[in-house]
Amino acid sequence: MTTAPVSPKPLPRFPRDFVWGVSTSAPQIEGAVEEGGRGRSAWDVFAAVPGRIKDGSDARVAIDHYHRYPEDVALLKDLGVGAYRFSVAWPRVVPDGSGAVNAAGLDFYDRLVDALLAAGVDPVPTLFHWDTPQALEEGGGWLVRETAEHFAAYADAVAARLGDRVHRWITLNEPAELTLLGYGLGQHAPGRQLVFDALPAAHHQLLGHGLAVQALRARGAGNIGIANSHGPTWAASASEADTTAADLYDLLLNRLFADPLLLGRYPDEGLAALLPGPVADDLKIISQPLDWYGINYYQPTRVGAPDPDAAGPADFGGILLPPELPFAPREIEGFPRTDFGWPVVPGALTELLETFRERYGASLPPIVITENGCSYDGLDDGERITFLDGHLRALHEALAAGLDVRGYFVWSLLDNFEWAEGYARRFGLVHVDRATLARTPKSSYRWLRDALRDQARG
Ligand code: BGC
Repeated sequence: MTTAPVSPKPLPRFPRDFVWGVSTSAPQIEGAVEEGGRGRSAWDVFAAVPGRIKDGSDARVAIDHYHRYPEDVALLKDLGVGAYRFSVAWPRVVPDGSGAVNAAGLDFYDRLVDALLAAGVDPVPTLFHWDTPQALEEGGGWLVRETAEHFAAYADAVAARLGDRVHRWITLNEPAELTLLGYGLGQHAPGRQLVFDALPAAHHQLLGHGLAVQALRARGAGNIGIANSHGPTWAASASEADTTAADLYDLLLNRLFADPLLLGRYPDEGLAALLPGPVADDLKIISQPLDWYGINYYQPTRVGAPDPDAAGPADFGGILLPPELPFAPREIEGFPRTDFGWPVVPGALTELLETFRERYGASLPPIVITENGCSYDGLDDGERITFLDGHLRALHEALAAGLDVRGYFVWSLLDNFEWAEGYARRFGLVHVDRATLARTPKSSYRWLRDALRDQARG
């Protein structure tokens, strides 16, 4: 039995047309990896290698959303969100990544979209949430240009099938994380440890985004965004060594992925020279206007110069940063932490949005917060309520300061496969029992439902 949380005071009022949603992704929830003609993904292969996933698990069943989607849609309906961000699995639709389209794979998303619409929930598919088809990975994955072209062909196939009912699209999820963790450090699929030689994966994902935008527009799509991860970077001190390290980190994690999209250029010429070309032509494709810009926000980062005496990698919320990198994460003191160890700093969301306004000015389209959330155990998750409440108030401050933010999506609807962490980190508003896969709404789910009802009363 769970007890009702002590309700914080009602949230301030958001605009009437503000979009409220929750997010998930295919590789984290679907399972059914060998059903309906799905091909293998880089994550299937990565998770099968002993030692890659901390709790020894994999996502072959995940939380069985593929079969249980009607129940999950009912949870969305009861929650009262207007929109649901999910991802389409590229290997389900194009099993080899290029070539033949698998109609049975599209059938699944067809059913899901219809169920969402029947429940009054707007479907918001993300076309890529890190599940690169293994056949393409074996040819170099995002390190090679062709992957961007194959991605656009896949985007076209999805739009051809769903475009009559889907009106809001997201191309990529967090190309920064896939570049850093997947190709740079090897802690995510495909497990490559190329460090700075991973940069072509960033460029090709951005190019794939641009080509996919063209493909979607050609199918009549008028409402397209991307979901990029961003967070403020705080220098560990005012020393030149620390500010230089923090600026570089900020450049690689924030500006490398936002500047090309919003300004049509890379933030550093030396860095652009390392990228496979034709970079100038590609930037024209990458920087086509977007209808909105999605930000996934979790935490700020405090960064300093590397410690020459460091004995080993620095643990940054589960990510191991090798000591030879030109920057090192430093603890952020004085804030509560999630179970993952991530500091809870709602004000950093307002700060981040202000930074975006300063950096991108008139080039910044409306913003949507496409992910925000936290990992905490337990059904009676008062900490998650405090987290969401705090971040929504911070977001409201940004709106009051004139920032054009159109929506907010909680990560995540359900506890799910948290990548290299396995199932140990629970981000859901709904608890999922690992043995039975039974879904049980947490206190935070009821809190959000009540908050949305309150907002709807106007
Ligand atoms: C990703 C999600 C992930 C979440 C929490 C984001 O980086 O898009 O897939 O589960 O953060 O780590």
